[in-house]
Amino acid sequence: KHPGWPSTLGPVRLHAGLLTLRPVRMRDGNTWSRLRISNQNELLPWEPTGVGQWERRHQASAWAPLHSVLKSEARRGVMLPYVIELDGRYVGQLTVGNIQRGAVLSAWIGYWVDREHTGRGIAQAAVALGVDHCFGPVGLHRLDATVQPDNVASQAVLKAIGFREEGLLKRYMDVNSRWRDHLLFAMTSDEVVGSAVDGLVRSGRALGR
Ligand code: ACO
Repeated sequence: KHPGWPSTLGPVRLHAGLLTLRPVRMRDGNTWSRLRISNQNELLPWEPTGVGQWERRHQASAWAPLHSVLKSEARRGVMLPYVIELDGRYVGQLTVGNIQRGAVLSAWIGYWVDREHTGRGIAQAAVALGVDHCFGPVGLHRLDATVQPDNVASQAVLKAIGFREEGLLKRYMDVNSRWRDHLLFAMTSDEVVGSAVDGLVRSGRALGR
């Protein structure tokens, strides 16, 4: 029913190791909790406002209900929730959401990487795998990414893959307790030359497959 789910994507070879995307699992709870709590300062400025304290929202017991929502949305064909693995270790997440079929064939893409592993091309490789999968087996035509103007690292990731800036969405999302402006970046399938992963390899940002 849901083309392209559930499958593992990659690998992409980086200096840092072998990067893959694999579906979230029920047993990710402890790692998810540990990483989300240790990355609070890095994540809080960019993520949708949640109900209650960060630590409480990210205790290991919060994973089971979240995981079951992600899994059922994935089965419905609305989401693709992945864990980013480097040499088999959980180093972040990449999520494709609001998959719309019919005449738009579009979705959004979002991601985060553990601060112990940033600056090594991990997000770029993960987004490239996600883009190739969405425009390939999933059959989408357009991907959107919304990012705050001061999130320069995330904008660098999107530009490296070939996302274009399309405009400014005023007071778009409730993030860190305020309605924050976001830049809309987007890419359509016809804009990919060969594949996004090949593009990273050509530009020296990844070593190969
Ligand atoms: N100023 C300018 N460029 C920067 C800065 C900075 N302060 N910090 C990093 N960069 C650049 C790097 O140079 C690199 O670009 P380059 O290859 O052209 O040199 C790029 O940003 C980072 O690329 P990666 O190494 O692939 O990214 P990384 O694995 O470090 O992950 C990420 C980046 C995802 C933004 C990570 O820092 C993170 O998780 N941040 C917190 C959560 C977040 O902001 N998520 C994105 C929200 S927006 C969205 O999801 C669409």
